[in-house]
Amino acid sequence: MSGVRTAVRRMKPYVPGKPVEDVQRELGLHDLVKLNQNENPLGPSPRAVAAARAAMAQVHTYPEGTARRLRERLAQMWNLPADWFLIGNGSDEVFRLLAEVYLEPGDRVVVPEPSFAAYRFVAELMGAEVVAVPLAGWTMDLPAMAEAAARGAKLLFLCRPNNPTGTVFAEADLRAALERVPPSTLVVVDEAYREFDETPFDSRTLVQDYPNVVIARTFSKIYGMAGFRLGYGVMRPEVLAPLYTARDPFSVNGLAVAAGLAALDDVEHVERTRALTREGKAYLYAAFQRLGLGYVPSEANFVLFDARRPAAEVFDALLRRGVLVRPCGSFGLPDHLRVTVGTPEQNRRFVEALKAALGEG
Ligand SMILES: Cc1ncc(COP(=O)(O)O)c(C=O)c1O
Repeated sequence: MSGVRTAVRRMKPYVPGKPVEDVQRELGLHDLVKLNQNENPLGPSPRAVAAARAAMAQVHTYPEGTARRLRERLAQMWNLPADWFLIGNGSDEVFRLLAEVYLEPGDRVVVPEPSFAAYRFVAELMGAEVVAVPLAGWTMDLPAMAEAAARGAKLLFLCRPNNPTGTVFAEADLRAALERVPPSTLVVVDEAYREFDETPFDSRTLVQDYPNVVIARTFSKIYGMAGFRLGYGVMRPEVLAPLYTARDPFSVNGLAVAAGLAALDDVEHVERTRALTREGKAYLYAAFQRLGLGYVPSEANFVLFDARRPAAEVFDALLRRGVLVRPCGSFGLPDHLRVTVGTPEQNRRFVEALKAALGEG
């Protein structure tokens, strides 16, 4: 079809994974262990589900456009004003709005590599030039990224903990890098997995100290609400206000907001998930060691490991045994796979399947 924007024509379309139902039907599997998208294996908080169910009675009305109640609750939690919060249809919407509002065609965007694909995607969508800075020793090369930004970048994306490595950087190192980034570069710190990370890092003070810092968070991971599509950005009102001009006023639905509010109150569910993840990682690390496979110690709810053979083959062999993981070829790591930490039973099934899959090769 003619008329497609040049930027869009140049992009590779996103290829979503096959729907789980289709995979199960094709392979005749009845219980697939789904460890490919870093979801919470405990599911959502029952309190979030109850709140969404109660909110159903109001679905004939439009939601309050700015999710005011959720912004006020987050403001309390962060001890920052409510107009520092933008609620999005997933944190994906926050990234897209930043790109739509701040990028002109040809502007530079600095991204880490490998990392979450959405940063590159939103930049390319706006016709921006993407400068990818390779990780150094599995962590972000902050000095190199700051240097790339100093050559003139509108946006710089950071992911902490990083997907797919699960690694973090120290706050002091970020502060040193921020001193070298021009104030005109917005620095987006994507903290989708922050609640799993037990290392010290004060996002609140960062966003207060640096007017060009944006923090992104999501309800998709530890809160177990990926299907609701709810995330948020924390940033100064001067940075945030223009985003409302581009935003679809009803992008965040009332059910998600009600569920999000209840999820924030269910501290126990978060704690249980954190403990499950911590124990699950220890179990997976021990298994990788026994199998003689390298892995990257992770601060998130997934672990990247080196299968020392083509990941696509290992992926297929695991899938035939009913375990779905993420092969990392699209991240530029053709021998690596990423596995989400599941329940103890799911982790055990993954390790059994992996042993069998490696024995095949
Ligand atoms: C690093 C990172 N950021 C953001 C997201 C997406 O979050 P959301 O579901 O809020 O759009 C993901 C999802 O996998 C992710 O891995």
